[in-house]
Amino acid sequence: MKRSRTFSALVAFVSLFLIFFYSTLHPETTYSLRAGPANLLKHSTLQVHIRDGKSQASKQESVIILPPAVHNVSVSDGLRHTIPQNGAYWNRLLYLAFKNLDREENPFGHNSDWSLCRQTKQEHLQTNMHDFTSYPFLFQDFLQGMNCSSPPVLLNQPNKCPFGDGKNNNNNQTFLLFTIKSTPRNFEQRQAVRETWGREGMYKSGLRVRTVFLLGSSPLEDPDLSALLAFEARQFGDLLQWDFHESLLNLTLKMYMFIQWTVKYCPEASFVFSGDDDVFVNTPKLLSYLQSLEPSKASRLYAGQVISEATPLRDPKNKYYIPLSFYDGPYPPYAGGGGFIISGALMQGLYSASSVIPFFPMDDVYAGMCFKALGVSPETHQDFKTFDIKDQDRENLCVIKNLILIHRRSPHQIKKLWKGIHNPLLTC
Ligand SMILES: *[C@@H]1O[C@H](CO)[C@@H](O)[C@H](O)[C@H]1NC(C)=O
Ligand SMILES: *[C@@H]1O[C@H](CO)[C@@H](O)[C@H](O)[C@H]1NC(C)=O
Ligand SMILES: *[C@@H]1O[C@H](CO)[C@@H](O)[C@H](O)[C@H]1NC(C)=O
Repeated sequence: MKRSRTFSALVAFVSLFLIFFYSTLHPETTYSLRAGPANLLKHSTLQVHIRDGKSQASKQESVIILPPAVHNVSVSDGLRHTIPQNGAYWNRLLYLAFKNLDREENPFGHNSDWSLCRQTKQEHLQTNMHDFTSYPFLFQDFLQGMNCSSPPVLLNQPNKCPFGDGKNNNNNQTFLLFTIKSTPRNFEQRQAVRETWGREGMYKSGLRVRTVFLLGSSPLEDPDLSALLAFEARQFGDLLQWDFHESLLNLTLKMYMFIQWTVKYCPEASFVFSGDDDVFVNTPKLLSYLQSLEPSKASRLYAGQVISEATPLRDPKNKYYIPLSFYDGPYPPYAGGGGFIISGALMQGLYSASSVIPFFPMDDVYAGMCFKALGVSPETHQDFKTFDIKDQDRENLCVIKNLILIHRRSPHQIKKLWKGIHNPLLTC
């Protein structure tokens, strides 16, 4: 009698344990079911293969091999060393993606069906992040849409970069593509950029510069600017817009879209700039820097102002708040999102890395993670100032003439600085 009671207590205990165990492992059990078909570009032949090592140790170093034309991309080693495996939700999602890669299963968490990707149940998120309900509202919202990666295209420029049957006249090939994060209402900023540092055309030594602005959609409460934007897009041919709401936490999605767009529509660009519409760029200086690079450097460049030892901010009131139960670990070194430069040759690898690594709510940190996965370290360039420069230098043209990028300028200041650094009478 006594024995059978002990036995049923044991059974009850074991089942409780199993229930608990499965509920904590929930993402794992649903992962492979949920992983939809990879959201691949039709024309690109991106595929994921696994090269299995013989021993346990080399298994750690599974490699994503892209088709012959593209160099091999190892997605896991560097990132595995940087990001700890622990109980935080994002960390678990990442290791789940690694595991699926190792097992040759579909590692892609991104959901290609935009209308279904937000159907995650609240309970799922609550089970996985015990304090989910105390997360700031926008953060909860980010989590619900975390797998959404294929917003409808509202404005496109498929012919932006004329490419590439190889017979293309060299001077049509894009040397530098500016991709500039903007928002629907920032018309004045875009115009200032078009008239100054983002001007498209041929620069010294026949270097071709092209520009696109990246837009999401306005919040519903805002006035409808779509007719104006359609006009602007026709007039200037430089707007890309997707149907997701503009917000800080959607910037990673915007980045994913621009990577995808570049791989598809501007694959021959030698360099790609990613940055904000309120920075000032000294384009001639940037071009001569890029032109001076050794070929080995030029094909693996990720440069800007590097933030090398950052960790998540845990104050819920901070704009960049990251809850501990969501992410636990340091950030890999990354280039400040105000403006950085990438080799065009890395875009395809970046695209495959960003198709595997779950979206992280800070776009520049996310870029750092993807580059880490590619084994590319960000390089500090002293002349990128994504944080502000000394007050007394803010208007000093002699200082600014020697910088490549300065953070945060109004459209008016951008025009003034551009004119200033081009003034032949400027003596420094
Ligand atoms: C996102 O996808 C992963 C992997 O498929 C899954 O485990 C997770 O529950 C999904 N998250 C949301 C919020 O839908
Ligand atoms: C160069 O690009 C323009 C469009 O920007 C196109 O009209 C022209 O035919 C192209 N020239 C060559 C040689 O490809
Ligand atoms: C991101 O965009 C989606 C789609 O428009 C929207 O539902 C969501 O609220 C946005 N996310 C945030 C955090 O604003």
